[in-house]
Amino acid sequence: MLTCVTALLLLALVLALAWWGCGTRRARTPGPLPPGPTPLPLLGNLLQLESGRLDRALMELSGRWGPVFTVWLGPRPAVVLCSYAALRDALVLQADTFSGRGAMAVFERFTRRNGILFSNGQRWRTLRNFTLGALKEFGVGTRTIEERVLEEAVCLLDEFQATAGAPLNPRQLLDNAVANVICSVVFGHRYGYTDPEFRRLLDLFHDNFRIMSSRWGEIYNIFPSLLDWIPGPHHRIFGNFTELRVFISEQIQRHRQTRQPEVARDFIDCFLAQMDKEQQDPESHFQRETLVMTTHNLFFGGTETTSTTLRYGLLILVKYPEVAAKVQAELDAVVGRAHAPRLEDRARLPYTNAVLHEIQRFISVLPLGLPRALTRDAHLHGHFLPKSTFVIPLLASSHRDPTQFKDPDCFNPTNFLDDKGEFQSNDAFMPFALGKRMCLGAGLARSEIFLFLTAILQRFHLLPVGSPANIDLTPQCTGLGNVPPVFQLRLVARGGLSPATHTQ
Ligand code: HEM
Repeated sequence: MLTCVTALLLLALVLALAWWGCGTRRARTPGPLPPGPTPLPLLGNLLQLESGRLDRALMELSGRWGPVFTVWLGPRPAVVLCSYAALRDALVLQADTFSGRGAMAVFERFTRRNGILFSNGQRWRTLRNFTLGALKEFGVGTRTIEERVLEEAVCLLDEFQATAGAPLNPRQLLDNAVANVICSVVFGHRYGYTDPEFRRLLDLFHDNFRIMSSRWGEIYNIFPSLLDWIPGPHHRIFGNFTELRVFISEQIQRHRQTRQPEVARDFIDCFLAQMDKEQQDPESHFQRETLVMTTHNLFFGGTETTSTTLRYGLLILVKYPEVAAKVQAELDAVVGRAHAPRLEDRARLPYTNAVLHEIQRFISVLPLGLPRALTRDAHLHGHFLPKSTFVIPLLASSHRDPTQFKDPDCFNPTNFLDDKGEFQSNDAFMPFALGKRMCLGAGLARSEIFLFLTAILQRFHLLPVGSPANIDLTPQCTGLGNVPPVFQLRLVARGGLSPATHTQ
């Protein structure tokens, strides 16, 4: 892979020189920026970042340049926020200024800065507020969504039960369960796990998340015009996007044909109603294309991140059986085995809660967050940052900050427990980022992680295939997301709980 990427970089250099020489396009520096390693022409600091783990390489550079420094990703400068204090001082204490979204080439061609994730200014504010309101209307943040997740958990557990303890890669089943929660909010229905349309939809999202988290995705974000000419898996991203667009458009069309304007069944109906209301307004942000993008954002934001967290969580619990056993003992003592754990139980499950937080801290599923852009000039830690500066909020650096967590490189649930064994939150915990642009689905994601993982642990022993000592927790690919290695486990039913009694 290294050779391939190095060859690609060399090719990039040659082509970029020609391209540069022609003067077709050149990134502009917005102004003076914080110091950082000296960039090479065109390649910037890429050679210093060639470790295969961008998050770790940036943390190493921070050791030399401090918590706020500039790296050049090819011809484009990026200011990196690397430490809990830098992230807090920027994203929370200057929330408005750091609330812009920086462009990512892998999404640019598809989203054209439409939807919530990649829009800015008034369009972003309008869509974010509308979506938060609509999600609430369809049960997110209320008991209704809890019921939906618990119903889905029953389907998931039945599938696990059917494996009868045989080795299983849990990825697809977890993807199905998580995606169905979003499906029920956005499309108003869930899918059967073997439905070919559903399977295809999930494969497209998964494929894109993987490519975007690979070196190809990283390099595409740096040299998009160049990589458009080079063969490689990155081209699949755009084909996948096109197929997703067709799928979502068909759903919207079906909603148009079957909806009754006075009763909104789901998010799409809600959006269509708002489009009707504003159809005379030429400035309206409620357009069909915006609905396609926003729907895509909810899926893309809400499925891979959550299901990757669940999958990584299972791998960690297989590696540390003593932790899984302690969670199970706490669940048995507090909830029993007659009914599935509920959100109201969370406060009485300090160890379980600490383990779930530690899983999210340890894996940093989106290690670099999503890029921000400055909405106005700012000062941060003694540095001047001009408006429009592209910012990388290195969330993983807060999770690995030794001033905030003991042994940050090890998995250790006591990071979230006090001396008395009570749950202890930590402000440096930020898998959903911070500030005005913080993840819109954080509440839903937290509920899903709790309800799905506790339901699984209550019902099954998680057994390794092979020795737990040989389980390597290093992500298989990283970049946009930390993706765990492919693995199998065996789920063996614990005694005292029959499938039939395991209801909400
Ligand atoms: C474990 C699960 C999840 C993680 C770790 C996660 C993490 C994140 C992060 C780091 C961001 C970027 C925030 C920033 O700009 O700094 C984000 C944005 C976003 N997430 Fe999530 N997310 C998760 C689940 C969800 C779910 C379930 C949904 C859908 C309901 C969702 C929808 C979104 C949306 C729409 C945005 C864009 C917000 C904006 O730009 O204003 N996410 N997420």
